[in-house]
This record gives sequence, structure tokens and C-alpha cells, in this order.
Amino acid sequence: MREQWGSGLGFVLAGIGSAVGLGNIWRFAYVAGENGGGAFLLVYLLVVAALGVPLVVAELAIGKRGGADAATAFASLAPRSPWRHAGWLGIAGAGLILSYYAVIAGWALRFVALALSGRLWEVPAGGFAAGFGAFIADPLAPLLWQGAMMLAAMLVVAGGIARGIERVNLWLMPLLALIVVGLAAYALSLPGAAGGVAFLFRPDWAAVLRPGVIMDALGQAFFSIGIGMAVYVTYGGYMRPEHPVPLSALIIVVADTGFAIVAGLAIFPAVFAMGGDPAAGPELAFITLPQIFLAMPGGRVVGSVFFLLLAAAALTSMVSLLEVPVAAVMHRWRIQRTAAVALTGGAILLAGVPAALGYGVLAGVTILGAPILEGVDRLVSNLLLPLAGLTVAVFFGWIVPRGEAPALAELEGRPGGAALLWMLRYLAPLLIAGLMLRLLLGAPLPGDG
Ligand code: PHE
Repeated sequence: MREQWGSGLGFVLAGIGSAVGLGNIWRFAYVAGENGGGAFLLVYLLVVAALGVPLVVAELAIGKRGGADAATAFASLAPRSPWRHAGWLGIAGAGLILSYYAVIAGWALRFVALALSGRLWEVPAGGFAAGFGAFIADPLAPLLWQGAMMLAAMLVVAGGIARGIERVNLWLMPLLALIVVGLAAYALSLPGAAGGVAFLFRPDWAAVLRPGVIMDALGQAFFSIGIGMAVYVTYGGYMRPEHPVPLSALIIVVADTGFAIVAGLAIFPAVFAMGGDPAAGPELAFITLPQIFLAMPGGRVVGSVFFLLLAAAALTSMVSLLEVPVAAVMHRWRIQRTAAVALTGGAILLAGVPAALGYGVLAGVTILGAPILEGVDRLVSNLLLPLAGLTVAVFFGWIVPRGEAPALAELEGRPGGAALLWMLRYLAPLLIAGLMLRLLLGAPLPGDG
């Protein structure tokens, strides 16, 4: 029998748990930092409203109708068209993201362990940058932490939808909300915090006009919400008839965006108060912040809580990414959930090994001039996620029979329903295709400066 969410609240919290992750804390902070703070935030909010909400509505609608895994869901809406295979893009993509996401989640877990044992606060020889560099270059340690996080995610997913995934999110998500609000309140109380607030909110118009900013905002929005990776199709498959599609999508997207902003209010005021560099890049969370925690009054407690937040938020996202291929494998091969978890989880763990070793043993291998993990992440957010989002928009806007779409999205006769469908049919494809074309025609990749 088909599994179902125990409650509407549990379902929405699981959706928020998928959306809220490293993307909101680790990635949002450094991408915003690199793109001029407030300027980026503005473009980001526009992308989220115009594309994020409609795409999550479409994914949930496809999943809710399909009532099974993502591959089946797409196929059931377009049984005789080549589009019936469209679900596999998200399924493969979820596995790919999880492969390197688990590595970063492992770093976060190691920092939790270091903070709790007190060893994080002994400045390593050569400073925090050297200490972190030595850790990620180690041939074994990153693999062990990556494996630990994968194992945790596998245990949760093996528990099933209501008793595994939903239960963990019911506990963790309210806790994470409390933690991030507490951290922000503390950071805002530090002398000098105002600089960080201004950085996050004051738009720098020159930066807004840089075309790379829009692509960065799109990539970040798609990554942070988790669009195109069939997570919402898969989670939508477990919805009960009475769980509403549009409202759930809206709550998930608003919560994800709110979480990123509050996390920014926890990070930037602290960075400014302590004289750090807000544009430090991917190392912001792992090198800059520990220095700041060390210098900050009460920083040891704040730092431990911060890394706990990072690891727990990563876990609930990993769980959603793992459920996507697990559901597909379970249904296609007709095997038990535990067997599907062991097979897919094991395969994805192996696939992530190169990313984990990319700063040490495999440092010679680069993708787009960056270490494996960062190169794959860039390909994912600038190519795979836009492509997958485009696929969902075109599928829902053009392939699903026109008369059926409003009913599927539960938008018949609702204010805003027509606008939302218009955005899926026209705005999303044109905007995404335009940005991708520009990229493929040789404009510098965002992040190249
Ligand atoms: N949204 C998650 C984050 O912000 C990552 C993710 C991407 C989850 C794609 C699901 C699908 O960290």
C-alpha cells in the first residue's frame, strides 16, 4: 500500500526540512556575500516569487496526482509522449547533489564533534585556514564524516515516510527555527552588528545590473528551495487528498526564504562585529566563523549551537534527496524499502568519494578550474537545476493538458491561479532558457567574477 504523511503539519515540516539546509546557511551567506549583499537579496526575492512558488506548486501537483515515485508520476501524466521519462532527470540529479552534499554535511558534523569536545577552540598551528585545509586534504577523515552523515540519513529514510522522515522533521524543524532566531538575536546584540545588517539589506545598484547576479540568484534559489530534483514530486506522492497544494508550496518557499534571511542576520552581524570578511566564499562557515566564535563573548556556546544547526539542517535535506531515488528504486524493482535504502545510499556514498578527496589525494583533478566538489556544485546550480526547473515548467505548462493543469494545481477559480500558470507557461521557460543560453554562449560563469 502507498505510504502517506501522518499529518498536514508533518508534511509541510518535511518540505521545509528539505528546503532548509546547507543552502540557507553555508551557501546563501557566501553567495550573497560575493554578490554585494542587499543587491543580491533583492534579485533573489524576485526570482523566488516569480519562479520558486510556481515551480513548487507544479512539482507537488505532479506528485500528488501520480501518487508514487517521481518516474511514475511524470509518466502517468504523459503516458505516450517522450516526456514520460522526464522524472529521471530529477532522480539522477538528487543522487548527484546528495553525493557531494553529504561531504559538506560531514564537515559540519566534524565541527560539531570538535566544538563539543572543546578542540575547535584550540587554534591549529598555522591558524583556522590551515587547520581546515589539513582536514579536507586528509585521505581518510572527510570520508569517515561523510559516511557518518550518509548512515544517519539512511537510517531515517529506512524508517519510512511517517515514522522516519516525518517524525525527524517534526522534532528538528521547530528546534532549528528556535536556534537560528536565537543566534540572530545574539549576533544583532553585538556592538558593530549594524554593519552586517546594512550589508545584507542595503542594495548596491551597480551589482544588481551585473547579469551574473541574476544567474547566481536563480541557481541559489533553485538550490535552496530544492527545485527540479523531484523532491516535491516524491514528497507530493505521499500527500493525503486534504493536504492543499498551493498553500503548502507557499509555506515551504516563504519558510525557506525567511530561514536564509534570519541565518544571514546571524552570520553577517557577527562577521562585521568581529571584523571578518563577508565575501570569504565557501570557506566562510568553516574558517571565518570559527575565528569569529573564538573572539566573541560566549562564542564557544554559540559556535557549538551553530554547527549543530548546520549539521541537523543538512540531515533533513539529505533525507529528502535520498528518498527520491529510494522511492523510484523501491517501486521499479519491487524491493523492500530497507533494501532500496542500502543499495541507493551505498551507491551515492561511493559516488561522493571523489568530491570528499578532491582537496587532498585528488587535488590535481579540477572541474571548471575548481576542486571537484565546488566544480560539481557550480555545474549543478548553474546548469542542472535551471535545466530541471525548465523541464518542470514546460512539462506542467505545455505537456499536461491545458484544461487539467488548474485542477491539478488546485488553482481553479482562485485569485492568482491564472497568473501562476502564466508564469509556468511563459515567464519561467523564457527566463531560464535565456539565462542558460547566455551562459552556454560563453558569458563568464557566475563566480568567475
Ligand atoms: N534545499 C537544500 C538546501 O538548501 C538542498 C537541496 C537541493 C535539497 C535540492 C533538495 C533538492 O540545502
